[in-house]
Amino acid sequence: MDIFRTKTVEQSIRDTEDPEHQLRKRLNAMDLTVFGIGVIIGTGIFVLTGQVAKEVAGPAVALSFVVAGIVCGLAALCYAEFASTIPVAGSAYTFSFATLGEFPAWVIGWDLLLELALAAAVVAVGWSGYFASMLASIGIPLPASIAGDDPVVNVPAVLIIAILTAILIAGIKLSSRVNLVLVVTKVAVVLLVIIAGLFFIRAANYTPFIPAPEATPRVGGLNAPLIQVLFGITPVAFGVIGIFSAAAIVFFAFIGFDIVATAAEETVHPQRDVPRGILGSLAICTFLYVAVSMVVVGMQKYSQLSTAAPLSDAFVSVGHPWLATIISVGAIAGLTTVVLVLLLGQTRVLFAMSRDGLMPRGLAQVHPRFGTPARLTLIIGLVTMALAGFVSFGELAELVNIGTLFAFVVVSIGVMVLRRTRPELPRAFRAPFVPVLPILSVLACLYLMLNLPVETWLRFLIWMVVGVAFYFLYGYRHSRTAVPHPKATRR
Ligand code: ALA
Repeated sequence: MDIFRTKTVEQSIRDTEDPEHQLRKRLNAMDLTVFGIGVIIGTGIFVLTGQVAKEVAGPAVALSFVVAGIVCGLAALCYAEFASTIPVAGSAYTFSFATLGEFPAWVIGWDLLLELALAAAVVAVGWSGYFASMLASIGIPLPASIAGDDPVVNVPAVLIIAILTAILIAGIKLSSRVNLVLVVTKVAVVLLVIIAGLFFIRAANYTPFIPAPEATPRVGGLNAPLIQVLFGITPVAFGVIGIFSAAAIVFFAFIGFDIVATAAEETVHPQRDVPRGILGSLAICTFLYVAVSMVVVGMQKYSQLSTAAPLSDAFVSVGHPWLATIISVGAIAGLTTVVLVLLLGQTRVLFAMSRDGLMPRGLAQVHPRFGTPARLTLIIGLVTMALAGFVSFGELAELVNIGTLFAFVVVSIGVMVLRRTRPELPRAFRAPFVPVLPILSVLACLYLMLNLPVETWLRFLIWMVVGVAFYFLYGYRHSRTAVPHPKATRR
């Protein structure tokens, strides 16, 4: 068995030229940056900031955003190099196929399916929460059976996914236009928080900036972070350590820049524009996050921040509820784009896997009129609707974090491998300080992964075991690199 057969970079690029499986090239650096911002700014900044400042980091939450931003920056440089070398749909999946081999690529593709489907469903449920509370505030409360904390079917979540799926099927350019409108609204609201908030900052709220460390009650069993189980390190809230623990949580706020790479194949000048899109959106979001968190902890004492809607509630606390309403509307717009781009990324990863034969090839057919993988987009939409409609998630969001960090680790390793195996390939963008930078990226991601609960690790492993079984029962035998096929290559 040759489960480490690779698909050459040239082969990956040639596959994109097969007319039946060809995506339309329409996007530029600006579109990609907007896509990036569309998916990055979401629940992380609108919700997690308050919780993390209150319980883990205090006003120093701004530093946690800096730490998480640096970890993501290291990985982003690796993603940018890959995307500039292999501008093909599928992101980390495609990169791994070219470097580490088919089986590792399958593992990472399977991992991305988990990350993106769950993330889209989780954020759709969050969207539904904001939407329901906004309707309630204008006197149209939704029945508890269809929305709220524990509905029978979460109808708004299902509907928003249905609408976004239709938009995605209709075409990539339309998706990016809708995205642009929503992203502008979201960024405007974030800027509003920063600028309006400046007038309500009280210096006293910044002291102490790094509150004294407090031992947190030792959580046991499956909820304990792996680092505690392995090394007996008890999590500490606040203090300098708290800044790092908080970084592992606010990492969620940065998830999404990697998804820009999944749209590489639909970009007119991918070698130049994908690195710009990835690094640009990450830089802008990091700046906005640090600014928002500084303002919010300046407006309200960190211990009094709300954990459900900290940004809008901070304005309620200073006596401006109308600003709070505007911010809720921005949050709804913001979360819509997150779901849209997560779904987009999901379809493009599955597209690449089907085109390679690891999933049924029929899935990778592109609709003749729309130029999008319509059938596959519909299937993903239906699965995500079922997840969002019927399953109540909560801590499953942590699965999204572990899945993403795992992908970052693989991509960082892949950059080093490709530099060795194919040093001559043209790389429009080169990550600096290789191999030091990718090694640091791997270590930083592993550290954040260790901070996740044992339960999350177990769920992750179960998903992976199912994926491995699927590979050996189906993918290995149907892979296009396995069947005699003139373009296939083996190591
Ligand atoms: N980064 C995205 C968010 O914060 C997933 O919602």
